[in-house]
Amino acid sequence: MRKVIWGLALAAFWLAPALAEPDPAEGADIYATNCAICHGDDLRNPGSSFDLKTLQKTERGRFNTSVMEGKGQMPPWRGTLAASDLDALWVYIRANSSD
Ligand code: HEC
Repeated sequence: MRKVIWGLALAAFWLAPALAEPDPAEGADIYATNCAICHGDDLRNPGSSFDLKTLQKTERGRFNTSVMEGKGQMPPWRGTLAASDLDALWVYIRANSSD
């Protein structure tokens, strides 16, 4: 019995980080609800706002700051989006980036 409990504990330990991995599909949903109106469907930029496909993988800090604090015509998302929402958005954007 003790072995089984240890086995389960170990499995939970190894699985938890995998399950916590943000899901690009969730990011796509959050994007469609909050961002697509200005940044375009499927990240296809209509021309007026920033082209999210050009965000580099090194620009996670810039992404967090701009999205949370707002920039230019873009409103701040602090209070609307949680850190986990930003994780999911980032994974979605990176999965569709042009670089
Ligand atoms: C009301 C329209 C609007 C919405 C909605 C919007 N944005 Fe923006 N976004 C803009 C505009 C305009 C800019 C360009 C800002 C500037 O440089 O003056 C921008 C810029 C950005 C940038 C680049 C900022 C930088 O560092 O240069 C990122 C990243 C971004 N938006 C992400 C998002 C995400 C993620 C969402 C959804 C949560 C979102 N935006 C929703 C209009 C919008």
